Amino acid sequence: MTDLCRIGVAISGDLLEKFDKLIAQRGYTNRSEAFRDLIRNELVQETWKSSDSEVFGTVTLVYDHHARLLPERLTELQHHYHAAVLSALHVHLDHDNCLEVVLVKGKAALVQKLSNALIAIKGVKHGRFTITTSGHDLP
Ligand code: NI
Repeated sequence: MTDLCRIGVAISGDLLEKFDKLIAQRGYTNRSEAFRDLIRNELVQETWKSSDSEVFGTVTLVYDHHARLLPERLTELQHHYHAAVLSALHVHLDHDNCLEVVLVKGKAALVQKLSNALIAIKGVKHGRFTITTSGHDLP
């Protein structure tokens, strides 16, 4: 771990008040950890701009499993990109709806392509791609 550095930040009272309210809602007990997390998040986002970066992510999908050919298409795509799919979690939400979370890993461009393809399948009611990092390069 590198040495901690102290920095001064000039910020308007209004903005600081909103920030403090937000971080309190999110459960932070001090501003420093909230600032560090904001910076880390920006750094993670930045790695996705380089299509060659090795990245991790989750694709969350909600769909009606009765939709014609939808479950087959989801499976087909995951097999096609099998090297990028680490795992998938499937939960039967109710009689009709399923929640699936696909854990992905690989080059940013490839993982983004897979994620877009999964979310774009006809009948997917909601899809969300969340990017993260191995944490390897993140202090
Ligand atoms: Ni299901």
